[in-house]
Amino acid sequence: MFQRKHLLGIEGLKREEIDHILDVADSMVEVSKRSVKKVPALRGKTVVNLFFEPSTRTRISFEVAAKRLSADLINFSGSTSSLSKGESFRDTVLNLEAMHPDIFVVRHGAAGAPDYLTTFSDCSVVNAGDGFHEHPTQALLDALTMRQHKGKLDDLKITIVGDILHSRVARSNIFLLTRYNTRVVLSGPPPLVPEEFINMGVEIEYNLDKAVENSDVVMMLRIQKERQTGSFFPSIREYRKYYQLNKERLKKADKDAIVMHPGPINRGIELMKEIADSERSVILNQVSNGIAVRMAVLYLISGGGDEINN
Ligand code: CP
Repeated sequence: MFQRKHLLGIEGLKREEIDHILDVADSMVEVSKRSVKKVPALRGKTVVNLFFEPSTRTRISFEVAAKRLSADLINFSGSTSSLSKGESFRDTVLNLEAMHPDIFVVRHGAAGAPDYLTTFSDCSVVNAGDGFHEHPTQALLDALTMRQHKGKLDDLKITIVGDILHSRVARSNIFLLTRYNTRVVLSGPPPLVPEEFINMGVEIEYNLDKAVENSDVVMMLRIQKERQTGSFFPSIREYRKYYQLNKERLKKADKDAIVMHPGPINRGIELMKEIADSERSVILNQVSNGIAVRMAVLYLISGGGDEINN
């Protein structure tokens, strides 16, 4: 069902492989509810969290996931490493590999950095977000959250709103959701939602009031100022007026619609803070599911096995 050494992206995964990861993640949710939240599945394995960009949710949930599987976990942070003395990415990885780890979990600002790592390392590699490219475990945890709340990934209307252009989260979600018989609608300021995205099998609706109509899921994205090189909308005030999810707009969605956000949230910009904290919000469920999905991914790329139930 999932016999890969690496998880570099959602593009290229079959629907059956995604379903299998989500099924294994369901078992991992159960592990995290036990009084002893630990299984011996990865005992003796070493996971290196190789983060060259800031992270709260992804880095810490990979750490919790590895520890719940009984692996040893080493945290590497680019900002406190010998990169500041001029050491290259390749030399950094080769030196860490000399310490015999088994899995590298990589976040990097350059699209393709995790793929490049596989060309000179024998370890398994998991992409934890690379530039504008992909964030596969985020899309998987989003799918697990939708499946828990909606009972399915087919026959839904899922609206993704905001800075699609710079969002690796949106790209991975689009790759994943278009494997299912579901409707994906993108909305945001036209410069941040180029028409080329239609080639990925989605719809575009620039009017957010229309885009959210009858949606089962509304996924809000952060404006990624750190990745923007130009001016993509006139002002935050304008952005809030046309693209903030507020109470009036949410009323147009299905009455049981859920609101998602990968975090970190710009409260009061893309999302009204009352909605972020409301019962419609599943944002903290997404964070909890991040641990289960990352446990499933670490477990499966290590070969799986039946230790999970011990
Ligand atoms: N969603 C997400 O990737 O958050 P972090 O940047 O905090 O890891």
